[in-house]
Amino acid sequence: MCGIVGYIGNKDTKNILLDGLKKLEYRGYDSSGIAILDSEINIVKEKGKIVNLENKLKLENIQGNIGIGHTRWATHGEPNEINSHPHFSSDKKIAVVHNGIIENYLELKEKLQNKGYKFISDTDTEVVAHLYHSYYTDDMLDALCKVLRDIKGSYALCIMCSEHKDKFIVARKDSPLIIGIGSDENFVASDIPAILEHTKEYYFLDDMEMAIITKDNINIFDRDKNLIKKEVFKVDFDISLAQKNGYDYFMLKEIFEQPLCIKKCINAKILDNDIFFEKFSITNEQIKDINNIHIVACGSAYHAGMVGKHIIEKMCRIPVNLDIASEFRYKNPILNKNDICIIISQSGETADTLAALKLAREKGIKIISIVNVVGSSIARESNDVLYTLAGPEIAVATTKGYSTQLAMLYMIALKFGYIRCNINESTYKDYIKELQSMEKYIKNCLSLEDRIKTIANKYYNIENAFIIGRGLDYSASLEASLKLKEISYIHSEAYAAGELKHGSIALIEDNTVVFGILTQDDLLEKAVSNLKEVKARGARLVIIAKEGYESLRDIADDIVFIPNIKEEFMASLSVIPMQLLSYYVAINRGCDVDMPRNLAKSVTVE
Ligand code: AGP
Repeated sequence: MCGIVGYIGNKDTKNILLDGLKKLEYRGYDSSGIAILDSEINIVKEKGKIVNLENKLKLENIQGNIGIGHTRWATHGEPNEINSHPHFSSDKKIAVVHNGIIENYLELKEKLQNKGYKFISDTDTEVVAHLYHSYYTDDMLDALCKVLRDIKGSYALCIMCSEHKDKFIVARKDSPLIIGIGSDENFVASDIPAILEHTKEYYFLDDMEMAIITKDNINIFDRDKNLIKKEVFKVDFDISLAQKNGYDYFMLKEIFEQPLCIKKCINAKILDNDIFFEKFSITNEQIKDINNIHIVACGSAYHAGMVGKHIIEKMCRIPVNLDIASEFRYKNPILNKNDICIIISQSGETADTLAALKLAREKGIKIISIVNVVGSSIARESNDVLYTLAGPEIAVATTKGYSTQLAMLYMIALKFGYIRCNINESTYKDYIKELQSMEKYIKNCLSLEDRIKTIANKYYNIENAFIIGRGLDYSASLEASLKLKEISYIHSEAYAAGELKHGSIALIEDNTVVFGILTQDDLLEKAVSNLKEVKARGARLVIIAKEGYESLRDIADDIVFIPNIKEEFMASLSVIPMQLLSYYVAINRGCDVDMPRNLAKSVTVE
């Protein structure tokens, strides 16, 4: 999704904006632009990568102490220079950058055109530039309030006016916007990495909040223009965590960060072999009374939720409804008293997931969120938030974000199962002990890198693949398949192994590649039968198996063994070889691993 950076201070505005936009590249974009206010507003925009904008800026001598920048992920209007942001009023008095969608832009556009306003782009955002211009007299906040009254949809807005060289104004609804607190300078951005090198202190704007930002002051207002006091969030990670540190891609770095991230995530909740969710508003009595749990998420977070469903139902004997957020929010879900909703989101800004959270909360359901980004919208809207502490995840394809979500779900299942007396103390302590060895097990899986690289070299030129498994292995195959799809563009399909013969086995022909994930003892025999069914029809089998399943060597074309740990936690291990395989297949195919085509790191629009 789009990225926004704003700066006001005495340093080199142009370079601060460009560096900030580069650190937001992972969000996905197709064009970029900046506006800097000196004696007038100077705007430079360009299609394609930020380097194109940089080259164009070399031909200009733009100075100034206040500026806004934007990377655009096209929603309305094709990716080109005209449609890129900042958008501006015809007299260039007003410049605006926007992340989100103005849903009623056509209606507003017509009204403005009838007033004589000329539009040059196909975007929804240009409406904001002209609308603000139509309301502006001399008070920036007053004009903004009138604009926000008219527009419908989602927005993170940053607006400059040539008559005010000492301030810019911002507002947000549904799309994230943070304010970076500097000394003799201040910043805004869509996400922390853009300005982390300048400050570790932030305000997170909430919906319908606005702010007037000068280099010395940050004044934040509610929708009624009342000045409000906001909590300052301080991040504890260093800028180096948001840099590649010698790896070719962020994704590989983040794959190898997983042992440490898992250790940090688990150790933050385990003390003296017991799990503690500090400051939990949900009491033990309420946990005992839970009738249903609803897990809602998107993409990989949804896949983590599928593993969570399996474990929670096994450990707590509570029915768990699992929903994709974009489905949940429109299906009029059945939510009852004593239900709880677990919302999972790495970014904490996914629009559909946030909307699902708000729907559940409106129905009086308590929300526990599992989130990585501290202070994100989902975190702030929840009754209880469990931070996964994975640090900034830059690669679009999540790895450590997903792995730490699994770890958190295991701890919820264990803690709730123990509180509800579904598991006894010895089982509880035994599983906690296993969790505390997870770092070692994942390191063991990462040591398979060379083996995986060899397999990737053998299969990277395929165009289709199946990834199959049963039970937890099926949940794991969904995440494995998404990894392969989203970074190598191979059409991969995850399938419940037992379901293939109900139609899709028709697609199996000579040399079709089928990946099998086998880690569940009670399902092994059936899963092997399914592998033999596809093998008999010409498939090439690549198997990820638990150590000890030696007989699988007879049917596999290639096989990788992972440590044999408690079956409930095996999804945390089987995903590692598939992350590495997807990575090396994508590299062999020349794909942009960190910023796959069409994708964004945080899907902040519906
Ligand atoms: C995963 O590799 C993808 N980047 C995507 O499916 C992601 O998991 C999904 O968009 C949910 O994002 P979130 O966890 O930030 O809500």
